[in-house]
Amino acid sequence: MIIAIDGPAGSGKSTIANELSHAFGFAKLDTGAMYRTVAFVCADRGVDLDDEGAVTDIADHLDISFDTEADPVRVFADGREVTTEIRTPQTDRIVSKVSAYPGVRHALLACQRAFARDRDVVAEGRDIGTVVFPNAELKVFLTADPRERAKRRVLQRHPGASIDDAHIAAEIEETLADLARRDDLDAHRQTAPLKAADDAVHIDSTAYGIDEIVAKIAELSRTRRA
Ligand code: DC
Repeated sequence: MIIAIDGPAGSGKSTIANELSHAFGFAKLDTGAMYRTVAFVCADRGVDLDDEGAVTDIADHLDISFDTEADPVRVFADGREVTTEIRTPQTDRIVSKVSAYPGVRHALLACQRAFARDRDVVAEGRDIGTVVFPNAELKVFLTADPRERAKRRVLQRHPGASIDDAHIAAEIEETLADLARRDDLDAHRQTAPLKAADDAVHIDSTAYGIDEIVAKIAELSRTRRA
């Protein structure tokens, strides 16, 4: 079975996909991590991000792998661990540019489908229900209020911090602007834009706890499986 979870940055996809994969014993496929890995490796190797051919060449030849037993899942690029590097604000800033290139998407699409060839998967991203797995048994489109999404992102980076701290409040404002910019790029690119599949179930996570959403999706997936 494939459960597809799409939605904008910070809508809670990752946390919810994690919980579901543990609850069902499914493998989790974080497709955003794959685009992040390509972006990070390009920057690390000094590739000009405006050079679509050079960026696509990296995506075509890069071996991206996951240790899905680890929690959180570890990510490797040609055998080198990049789990932390792909989550920095620097990678946040460049990833939408890289992920808009059709050749990059084409290269990663093949890897994403191969990952799910012989196992049950919870896959999260932007185009899972529309492009990667259009036949997924359950598709969820997760949204949340932009300020709430920015707050979640920042608190994820600084566990235990208070939103009343001046530097945390400032980081929330910066993150809010970055999310808006990325959402805009992701939703308006030509290839596989961020979009809900026609048959997706829409869930707004602003006012719900993770547990409530996980329970709701788990219930939906039990119904679909039956
Ligand atoms: O989910 P995330 O924030 O880690 O994703 C990082 C970027 O990758 C995001 O800005 C858009 C892109 N992405 C994409 O284009 N398609 C996907 N299926 C997943 C992510």
